[in-house]
Amino acid sequence: MPASYSAADMGVADFGGGPEVGHGHGGHGGVPAASVSVTELVADQTRAPDVRVEVVARFDGERYTLDGATPGPVIRARQGDLVEVVLRNESVPDGATLHWHGMEVPNAMDGVAGVTQDAVGVGESFTYRFVADRAGTFWYHSHQVSHIQVVRGLFGAVVVEPVSGLGVLDEVVLLHTYPGSSRTMNGVPEIVRPVAEGDAVRVRLANTDNVPTVAWVSGASYRVVAVDGYDLNGPGLVDGQKVTVTAGGRVDLEVVVPAGGVRVQVPGASLALAAGGVAPTGPAPSVWLDLLSYGTPAALGFDPAVPDRRFVYDIGRLPGFLDGLPGWWWTINGRIVPHQPMYMVSEGDVVVMKISNASGEVHPMHLHGHHMVVLARNGVAASGSPWWVDSLHVEHGESYDVAFVADNPGVWMDHCHNLIHAREGLMTHLMYTGIDTPFRLGHSTGNVPE
Ligand code: C2O
Ligand code: CU
Repeated sequence: MPASYSAADMGVADFGGGPEVGHGHGGHGGVPAASVSVTELVADQTRAPDVRVEVVARFDGERYTLDGATPGPVIRARQGDLVEVVLRNESVPDGATLHWHGMEVPNAMDGVAGVTQDAVGVGESFTYRFVADRAGTFWYHSHQVSHIQVVRGLFGAVVVEPVSGLGVLDEVVLLHTYPGSSRTMNGVPEIVRPVAEGDAVRVRLANTDNVPTVAWVSGASYRVVAVDGYDLNGPGLVDGQKVTVTAGGRVDLEVVVPAGGVRVQVPGASLALAAGGVAPTGPAPSVWLDLLSYGTPAALGFDPAVPDRRFVYDIGRLPGFLDGLPGWWWTINGRIVPHQPMYMVSEGDVVVMKISNASGEVHPMHLHGHHMVVLARNGVAASGSPWWVDSLHVEHGESYDVAFVADNPGVWMDHCHNLIHAREGLMTHLMYTGIDTPFRLGHSTGNVPE
């Protein structure tokens, strides 16, 4: 890997059968297009913020904190609010950023060091501004040396409430395993929340770890009301089943508290919704809830049947060299970074992608700036609620057909959210034609997003 390079020049352009329009550096061939810098892709600069938060990032030699704590502060907004967050780096030596995981922010606000901004150095600050246009559960984390900074604490939750109000109680729960500890919920092994019998509670689970986990409910049935910030359509009552919460993913569960209380559990941690101070505990069910057939179908809002571009994201593993280091590296379509495909799209394209995994390990695949709807798994068509994801759990041996509309111009990472795997080369970008970035990655630049 060069000491300094542009994300726009990474990889081998893959136009997915669509028009081969070039972009800023012309490095990918095709017709050069007028180029727009990612720095121009911002929210309305004249609008005053509805929510304004300042957070101070620090490193104490072991943990990374925001405002002295990990997780950092919960950022709460209403749908449509303009959110402004100022990140001040007091003492994170490598610099830091904030990435808004699952939020479709303008590209300049995406927080990827070396792609959409420079890492924020000690003594510096960066202001993020975006409209929270979707109600749901999201999270934020550093995207500078993320395989270390996230694991060691530099993250927090974002909750966007619907304009009409939620109508139920809610509790946001970040699942995280700090080095040397067991799994926590918001940093502790158990949260006890006193509630009354009959209260409905929406539990917003977000998995901030590198590995997937499962959640289940003891003492009551539940509904999965949202995944990755998208409400599900017609979610039925679930009993005796566990649900996967993939790395980076969110699952919102809704429970109605019975007289004896109820407990939302993950391995090693739990949330007691305690009526009268008690809540039952139970073992994990052996049966998984399958989101492919859960809920009832509804219109997608676009037609994936005749896509403008069709991509393959085939994950494998091969011996080879990555940045000069010999290893057993992840591959995309058989190639090791930087020879992986760069997925090229134009604004407005309907895109279909087949993500398959024959690499021997599970990968939680995360696309920035967009949500993908699951069309099929292993060739079996989705038959339940539209299942929109930004973080997709792809087991070894599985393949998913997903679709999305390219409606948010920029340079967007598309990577495994096991951040160690991203570091090991399981990353590429979704690149819009006509977009360029002035930021640089590489050893000499100080920007190391993975
Ligand atoms: Cu949550 Cu590219 O990351
Ligand atoms: Cu992975």
